[in-house]
Amino acid sequence: MKVAVFSAKKYDCDGFTQWADSSLQFSYHDCRLTKSSVKLAAGCHAVCVFVNDEVNAEVLQQLSELGIEMVALRCAGFNNVDLTTAKTLGIRVARVPAYSPEAVAEHTIGMMLCLNRKLHKAYNRVRDDNFALDGLLGFNVFGKTVGLVGTGRIGLATARILHGFGCQLLCHDLVQAEEIQRLGGRYVSLAELYAQSDIISLHCPLTPDTKHLINHYSIGSMKDGVMLINTSRGALVDSKAIIDGLKSRKIGYLGLDVYEQEADLFFENLSEQMIDDEVFKRLLTFPNVLITGHQAFFTREALQEICQITSDNLLAFASNTETGNELVN
Ligand code: NAI
Repeated sequence: MKVAVFSAKKYDCDGFTQWADSSLQFSYHDCRLTKSSVKLAAGCHAVCVFVNDEVNAEVLQQLSELGIEMVALRCAGFNNVDLTTAKTLGIRVARVPAYSPEAVAEHTIGMMLCLNRKLHKAYNRVRDDNFALDGLLGFNVFGKTVGLVGTGRIGLATARILHGFGCQLLCHDLVQAEEIQRLGGRYVSLAELYAQSDIISLHCPLTPDTKHLINHYSIGSMKDGVMLINTSRGALVDSKAIIDGLKSRKIGYLGLDVYEQEADLFFENLSEQMIDDEVFKRLLTFPNVLITGHQAFFTREALQEICQITSDNLLAFASNTETGNELVN
């Protein structure tokens, strides 16, 4: 079975070589899947895509005309795929629902600790023989109230770690997980979560309901100096609103692993180019903002699972069976 892999980086090629079934023939394309690059899939049976590939109605139509019968996502989120059109066209879509929630949870906690104890600044200071502590004052995470929006796999993995830190957990989700109660947490309205939390971390998917969940209004209802972390999807937050929140000191700390317009930036080395995104550049000017380029998932263990599960999804399609990871059969 021939598979065109889009947004393919060296680690994807290495991963599939090491962990995918050898009967699968991958052709790798560094570029994103868009209406301009879709022709690269010609001659293949399936495409394999990642978070910023465009799998909208127009691209799906073109894929269908090329004879593509399956879209294999090598990620959990699927907000970039038009599932309705895929179903209409008879294109199967499968994802990797849970490769390593702990990878994302641990990165989330890493961002919290780095921002709080200003490790990014301390690292540079010590390398400059500057051992002064002024400006590095942090706070104890122990005893703080953390609000988790979304308590699925990643939200729960984050809750377990925070429980170990001795935090109070306030959670909000459409579905309540029993484990939250065992961890001493409780489910509350979003309004209460915003009003009571010292740290707020987002772990719900991007849907029409959650787009710009964090906006001027919700920021206004948060505690002064709140720490906000988003390792989920960029469009959960209105970037202009968080800039205003930072300027007014309402937001005391901001950690982003995802960004609404990240498709034009992340996963590429742009260090020799001009970046035109003024909002992104403004975010980088704040001393209390930490941004990583969608790397929360990026551990050896997660990569191995992504490659193995994607391989299983493709093989299941080839043998007309199912893995249970299908979004469209
Ligand atoms: P999951 O499906 O296990 O959990 C998502 C939870 O959000 C569910 O419990 C669901 O009920 C809840 N939810 C849905 N709509 C909601 C709403 N309106 N308000 C509150 N809660 C709502 O997903 P998982 O594995 O925990 O992943 C969460 C998100 O993390 C993914 O959707 C993806 O966007 C993001 N992600 C980011 C990665 C990164 O590298 N930065 C890697 C993997 C996932």
